[in-house]
Amino acid sequence: MKNIVILISGRGSNMEAIVRAQIPGARIAAVISNRPDAGGLDFAVRQGIAARVVDHKAYPAREAFDAALAEEIDAHSPDLVVLAGFMRVLTDAFVSRYAGRLINIHPSLLPSFPGLHTHRRALEAGVRVHGTTVHFVTPTLDCGPVVIQAVVPVLADDDEDSLSARVLVQEHRIYPQAVRWFVEGRLQLTAAGGVRVKDETAGLDGWTVPPVEA
Ligand code: GAR
Repeated sequence: MKNIVILISGRGSNMEAIVRAQIPGARIAAVISNRPDAGGLDFAVRQGIAARVVDHKAYPAREAFDAALAEEIDAHSPDLVVLAGFMRVLTDAFVSRYAGRLINIHPSLLPSFPGLHTHRRALEAGVRVHGTTVHFVTPTLDCGPVVIQAVVPVLADDDEDSLSARVLVQEHRIYPQAVRWFVEGRLQLTAAGGVRVKDETAGLDGWTVPPVEA
């Protein structure tokens, strides 16, 4: 059984999608929020999952917050730490501690639109396709090896709300998929900084580049 710790800051719909996926071999050991008022905590409690708060406002500096957060995470012996709408920039020390077992979902097709307000920026840029990315976390923000991406069209009458809703549907598909691959031991980080997924039906040695969802 692999222990999963999920970090949230708000509504927690991606966390909920992962919990509801009931991935064989995965145990959601804890949901941790940096905000006491995060809506997703209620869902975790109702599911009987350990729900914890490490309030970033209680710490004078990023380093102290990350150390307290790591202590709470490690109390649940995580095999995988999942950032699901966790809106804090993490220190290099924190990222290194969980290297290879820390993943994030970002609401754009990285490397386009790292950072905040991705849907608004996609609309302003006039792109025809937008989407979401699950990636391993590395010290550079929104820049780690890509596990899986999903693409959605940008429609002529889209606004931020309609576009983000379309992307969110895909987030709820690809994040449980990425966690499932990890739990099944089917993800491999390559020396070149990419990710391969084990697929017995693929040619050669059975390792392939993850497909794009659309
Ligand atoms: C999601 O769209 C996720 O991609 C985004 O926050 C939202 C959280 O929604 N994450 C980031 O922007 C990280 N930089 P949720 O709380 O309902 O899962």
